[in-house]
Amino acid sequence: MVSEETFYVSQLVKKSVPKVGRIKVFDTTLRDGEQTPGVSLTPEEKLEIATQLDKLGVDIIEAGFPITSDGEKKAVKLIAKAGLKSEICGLARVTQTDLDAAINCDVPYVHTFVGTSEIHMKVKLKMMPEQILEKAVWAVDYVKNHGLICEFSPEDATRTDMAFLKKICKAVQEAKVDKINIPDTVGVMVPTVMKNFISELKKVIKVPISVHCHNDLGLAVANSIAAVEGGATQVHATINGLGERAGNAALEEVVMGLIAFYDAQTNINTKLIAETSELVARLTGIRPQPNKAIVGENAFAHEAGIHVHGVLTSPATYEPITPEMVGHKRRLVLGKHVGSHGVKAALDELNIQTTPEQLQEIVTRIKAIGDKGKTVTDADLRAIAEAIVGELTKEEKIVTLDELAVVTGNRVIPTASVKLVVEGKERIASATGVGPVDAALNAIQKVLELQDIRLREYRLEAITGGSDAIAEVMIKIEDKFRNIVSAKAAREDIVMASVEAMVNAINRILLKRRAIAG
Ligand code: KIV
Ligand code: ZN
Repeated sequence: MVSEETFYVSQLVKKSVPKVGRIKVFDTTLRDGEQTPGVSLTPEEKLEIATQLDKLGVDIIEAGFPITSDGEKKAVKLIAKAGLKSEICGLARVTQTDLDAAINCDVPYVHTFVGTSEIHMKVKLKMMPEQILEKAVWAVDYVKNHGLICEFSPEDATRTDMAFLKKICKAVQEAKVDKINIPDTVGVMVPTVMKNFISELKKVIKVPISVHCHNDLGLAVANSIAAVEGGATQVHATINGLGERAGNAALEEVVMGLIAFYDAQTNINTKLIAETSELVARLTGIRPQPNKAIVGENAFAHEAGIHVHGVLTSPATYEPITPEMVGHKRRLVLGKHVGSHGVKAALDELNIQTTPEQLQEIVTRIKAIGDKGKTVTDADLRAIAEAIVGELTKEEKIVTLDELAVVTGNRVIPTASVKLVVEGKERIASATGVGPVDAALNAIQKVLELQDIRLREYRLEAITGGSDAIAEVMIKIEDKFRNIVSAKAAREDIVMASVEAMVNAINRILLKRRAIAG
């Protein structure tokens, strides 16, 4: 279930890889994902996520590990009776207490597991391989005798002796297991070997094969996809790649990779991926890194001028998939790498028209802000652009600001010195005030000998939070002839923004007087 839009991926890859058909998605966000250090969800939160996963279209929801706590049992029960379309599954070790805890939650599907690698059998379980095999078969039999779907995992399969792995898989098959899941429990596979590993197992496993990859070496998604190439028809995954240690294979990456390269058919409504990611991030408190594929804040953000120009001309130049496919948004970031095309596009969005000179001035300001390590938000851009668009042209200006210096502190009287150029002539004056802004405005009035001008209104707004935010100053002044004008300026420095706004307003009032005088 993905839109008809085209994927702009490598045609070489598309020609080289097989088409894989229907792939089932087994979501374990609420079980392995909840095992992410620091994450703990209430039953109600788990139900909210399960409802969203159901909407997203996952085939199976592993709702939890019921034996772990009463809250977990409550959550799994709540999800099992919520009437969702996804199959609801509970996890259990191969013991009667674990299996009963899951079965008593009224789930239709039990996922049972036992360690099969030498280190798990010897060190953790302290059991012989034959005992492990017997317990696995017993557990599958127990679940099947309760009339439930049973999936079996030989934990740490990828570090298990192949002969024993095949033996235990054959044995659980004889006990009528429905699916066998191959966990790469500690993320020690590489894609080429994973593909062959699954192909080899397929020689003895006749039920559907699933795969469960951890991301310890950053290969969980690649290994999951390789397993599908090898013949797996189900993938375990978590939203945002949550999970034990470095996490599990990220559902959004596996699904988009399988669809884009392998033409996989899944039941996932890919347009709901971003909102699902957001819900999981909000409820778990774990935000994906900004550069995380598919769902990261920057996954469809473009800053560099050349990229922005390309994307504005045709998104496929720098986007192999569109943000719309996954319910995300394209974002143009205004920073030091910005170019005029990007700024123009952002201004168009804000419905702000500029002359080429004004556009250039806005680009210069944004780059200067970028050089200080910041980016410019839409609100900042609006303030900067409105101030520049509202400015008089160089030719129109009677007064321009050349220099400004202010001294302030708890033991000095705030003092400002300004150098203005008035019709080609430099004028300098200093004045004090109750604060640096007041002192600067007084100095301007002094230098211009404009004692008749009264400040009627002064408004200062920090556009975005933070002490280094862009400040927008709006000033309204009135002279003795009752001429009233207002002007704006936007700068990171509030004194500079205030002085610029004042100089802009004075220019306007002087022009107005000239016009009246004819
Ligand atoms: O990583 C793992 O092996 C698991 C099992 C419970 C399948 O999570
Ligand atoms: Zn796991």
